[in-house]
Amino acid sequence: MSGRLNGKVAVITGGASGMGLAAVERFVEEGAAVVFCDLPPTSHSELAARLGEQQARMHHSRRTAGGPNDGYAIAQRLGNGATFVPADVTDPEALAAVVDQAVTRYGGLDIMFNNAGIGGAEGSIVDCPDDVWNRVVDVDLKAVWRGIKLAAPHIAARGGGSIISTASIAAIIGFPGLGAYGAAKAGVVELTRVAAVELGPQSIRVNCILPGGVVTPLIYDSPLFERALDPDAIRAALARSQPLPRAGEPLDIANAALWLASDESSFVTGQAIVVDGGMSIDARRGIPQDAFDQPPQ
Ligand SMILES: NC(=O)c1ccc[n+]([C@@H]2O[C@H](COP(=O)([O-])OP(=O)(O)OC[C@H]3O[C@@H](n4cnc5c(N)ncnc54)[C@H](O)[C@@H]3O)[C@@H](O)[C@H]2O)c1
Repeated sequence: MSGRLNGKVAVITGGASGMGLAAVERFVEEGAAVVFCDLPPTSHSELAARLGEQQARMHHSRRTAGGPNDGYAIAQRLGNGATFVPADVTDPEALAAVVDQAVTRYGGLDIMFNNAGIGGAEGSIVDCPDDVWNRVVDVDLKAVWRGIKLAAPHIAARGGGSIISTASIAAIIGFPGLGAYGAAKAGVVELTRVAAVELGPQSIRVNCILPGGVVTPLIYDSPLFERALDPDAIRAALARSQPLPRAGEPLDIANAALWLASDESSFVTGQAIVVDGGMSIDARRGIPQDAFDQPPQ
């Protein structure tokens, strides 16, 4: 089988749901050995007992063992090419253990995909509690920094490779209610540039992806809502939110990550690649439709 990632070893964080899961599946399909992490598949009350209510409320409240975040079940389904290691990416030792697992189990590391993220329930800047700000920045920015820091020496030992992180178009346009999220994601974009300059001489490429609206539990099972929303209703709404008339799907992001992980992008580094169906470049955004409906003068 000739896959685009044959012989490569990858770590993917937040790999038990949404675009991380799509990337795990896609990378395995293309021949990579993948170690992926996610929070342990425990109940929300266990998460709250560990993190406190404020910080736990940033995570899906309908987490259940055997549910969408059960990495063990996903690894079993995918077979030998995938290994699940439960880890909270904000725990330095746990994240180090994920990276070490790739090196000890598969002999090295070529690709690090810092994808785990939370967002959506922080409130306005004025209302956002410190605990919520801290959790968002710890998961969405600090853990990305740590992922780069932990992975780079192993990737350098292989003679080079690729580091990818998931940012967001919230890094480049202002979404009300996403102050911590947008600041963290903008931090990821700049961290990407600095890392690309620092690690380029070791042939390590560092890029990030800025998704627009993508149909994942982060959107339809947001902690903002009392109940999970219907993914198809979200899909239909997102299809009307940008020039391209369909919603973003996890596979759109996984395919961008695949290209960045593969040798096909071997001269690309330090870039923030927007994958949003044109949402962020649509000048009509925010202009009421009826503004253009006036009769001719
Ligand atoms: N869905 C969108 O529209 C959208 C848009 C822009 C950016 N993003 C970003 O895409 C990335 C993936 O999100 P998604 O949309 O696939 O959502 P998702 O919720 O389906 O997947 C995110 C995964 O990360 C895991 N995770 C969260 N905190 C973690 C932690 N501390 N340790 C380990 N795992 C953790 C979650 O449990 C979940 O399985 C995130 O970084 C998110 O911010 C999403």
